[in-house]
Amino acid sequence: MGVVTLLDAIDPGPRGAIKIAPSILSADFGELASAIATITPGSDWLHVDVMDGHFVPNITLGPPVVASIRKHTNLYLDCHLMISDPGEFLEPFAKAGAQGVTVHAELGDLDSVLAEARALGLRVGLAANPDTEFDVFDRYLDAVDVMLCMTVFPGFGGQSFMPEVLPKISQVRDAVVARDLNLEIEVDGGIDAKTAPLVVEAGATVLVAGSAIFGSTDPLKAANDLRHAATC
Ligand code: DX5
Ligand code: ZN
Repeated sequence: MGVVTLLDAIDPGPRGAIKIAPSILSADFGELASAIATITPGSDWLHVDVMDGHFVPNITLGPPVVASIRKHTNLYLDCHLMISDPGEFLEPFAKAGAQGVTVHAELGDLDSVLAEARALGLRVGLAANPDTEFDVFDRYLDAVDVMLCMTVFPGFGGQSFMPEVLPKISQVRDAVVARDLNLEIEVDGGIDAKTAPLVVEAGATVLVAGSAIFGSTDPLKAANDLRHAATC
């Protein structure tokens, strides 16, 4: 069986259902395969934070690491590209086995990058920093699969959730309802069992969590607790 057959079978799951997306940023990079295996029963997507030391003041990983992760998991790989030139790397990420790539709205005109990602067979997402207003990305909402509302400034795990982003999440949810958009609303930054109900109430459907899951002594239980907090 070819890799393509396997990758084609990896499905993002039903739109609008609550999804838990552990961020490997807070995992032990020397033990990634076992860390991923541990949380897989409680996870829907795997969130992969890619940082270039330019768009954000930190460096993480690139396509070779995604390719290695791909060999060890069948989870949907949700690659959050915190990089200044995503267009240069879409094909390498697609070849490495990513299913979704999310690029940042702060980069400016993204029409060609989004179209290129789509042409490569990737699902496409758009991310907005906490201070990036709805009007900056509104025009792309019909063209993407995921709108990622950052609830911290990107670059590092373990920061505090910013409640001032909640109204923007609701603005996206209102647009989804009013325009019948086929869009997941993802949140990333400071998500834990306390903040999850707030973002779900505002409209979030995909919950990224790094330190709340991998910083726990029992990461699978933490993922399950997060889902419970988000859905009950
Ligand atoms: C931060 C990353 C996040 C990070 C979240 O720039 O985009 O995905 O891993 O970490 P926590 O959940 O610890 O805030
Ligand atoms: Zn992220």
